[in-house]
Amino acid sequence: MSGNGLKIEYSELVENANSIILRMDMKGNVTYFNRYAQDFFGYRPEEIIGKNVVGTIVAPTDTSGRDLKAMIDDMALHPSSYVNNENENMLRGGARVWIAWTNKTILDENGRASEVLCIGNNITRLKQAEEEILKAKEAAEGANKAKSSFLANMSHELRTPLNAIIGFSELMKEESVGPLNEKQEEYVDYIHESGKHLLSLINDILDLSKVESGKMALELGEFDLKTLLEKSLVFVKEKAAKHGIALSTDIGEGIGAIRADERKVKQVIFNLLSNSMKFTPDGGKIGINARRDGNKEISVCVWDTGIGIDEKDRSKVFSEFEQIDSEYSRKYAGTGLGMPLSKKFVELHGGKMWFESEGKGKGARFCFTLPLNVG
Ligand SMILES: Nc1ncnc2c1ncn2[C@@H]1O[C@H](COP(=O)(O)OP(=O)(O)O)[C@@H](O)[C@H]1O
Ligand SMILES: [Mg+2]
Repeated sequence: MSGNGLKIEYSELVENANSIILRMDMKGNVTYFNRYAQDFFGYRPEEIIGKNVVGTIVAPTDTSGRDLKAMIDDMALHPSSYVNNENENMLRGGARVWIAWTNKTILDENGRASEVLCIGNNITRLKQAEEEILKAKEAAEGANKAKSSFLANMSHELRTPLNAIIGFSELMKEESVGPLNEKQEEYVDYIHESGKHLLSLINDILDLSKVESGKMALELGEFDLKTLLEKSLVFVKEKAAKHGIALSTDIGEGIGAIRADERKVKQVIFNLLSNSMKFTPDGGKIGINARRDGNKEISVCVWDTGIGIDEKDRSKVFSEFEQIDSEYSRKYAGTGLGMPLSKKFVELHGGKMWFESEGKGKGARFCFTLPLNVG
C-alpha cells in the first residue's frame, strides 16, 4: 500500500467504531456522541449534545437504588476512581442496560480537567447471566442447608430405634434371655452387625451434614498426640497380625501435648488406619509417621503398601459416597464417607489433608496437618 491517498481520519474511526464513544464536560453535559452511541441509546446528536447524562442516558438512581447522579458528580471530583467503571445506563425508552466504561480525563491548556472521554461496551447479557448464576447458587445453597438441618434434626429420631435393635440383639446374642438354636444365633448376629453398620453410617451422615450446615463446633482440649497415635495402632494390632501385616511408627521430636478436638482427631486417624487395613493385602505393611514443623504445625501420615490409587480415580477419594470402582469394590465394605468427613474435620482445625500414591498397586500415603495454635 502506498499510503498516499489513504489518510486515516481518526474522527471517522471514532465515529464508526463498534463501541459507545462520548465526551462530557465536568458537569456531565454531553459534548460528543458517536454514531454507535446514537443508535444504541436512541438519541440524534441535536437531542443529546448539551444535555446532561443524568436524566438521559443515566437514570438518577439505578434499579438497585444506587445513586447514579451522585456517582456522576463524584466522577468530576475523583476521575481516577472511575477509569474502569461498570454501571447501569438507560436507553431512550427507559430500558436499563449495563455498560462497562473506560473513562479518560481530558485536560485543558492549563492542565485542568475539562472533559471526560468515555468508551463503553454493552455487558447487559453478561450481567444477566451473572445474576442468574448467583440466584441459582443461592437457591442451591438454600436447598443444601435445608437438607443439612433436616438431617441434623432427625438425628435423635434415627438413632433411637437403632439403639433398640442393637441393644436387644446384643442381649439375645449373650443368651441372657434364653438359649438360642444355631439358626437363631446366626440371624441375631446379622441383626446386630447390620444395626451397628447402619448406626455408623448414620453417624457419618449426621456428622457430615452438621459440618456442612456450619453447626459442627470444635471441642478443643489438650491431649498427648503421641499417645493417641500409639493407642490407635494397638486398636488394629490384632487384625494386622491375623493378616500378616507389619505395623510401624516413626514419631519425630516434639510430638507431645497439642490443643485440638481429641475425638475428631482420633476419628481421622482411625479412618485412615482402617482404610489402610482394608486396602492392603495380606503380608503388606502399614505405618504412621508424625513430624513437627517448628512452632507452626504437626503433620501426620498413614502409609501402606496396598492397592494404591490410580491417577484417574484421584478425585473420588474425597468425594462423598464415592468409592473407587475396581475388581475390589465388592470385596471391601464401606460407605465412601470416611475420607470426606476426615478432611472436613482436619479443615475445621485449620489444617490440610491430602494423599499420595504412585498408582495402582503401589500403596498410598494419606497425610494431614494440624496447626499448633488452634482456637
Ligand atoms: N489407603 C487407601 N488405599 C487405596 N485406596 C484408598 C485408601 N483409602 C481410601 N481409598 C479409596 O478412597 C475411597 C474413599 O474412602 P472412604 O471415604 O474412607 O470410603 P470407604 O472406606 O467407606 O470406602 C475408598 O473407597 C477407596 O477407593
Ligand atoms: Mg473408609
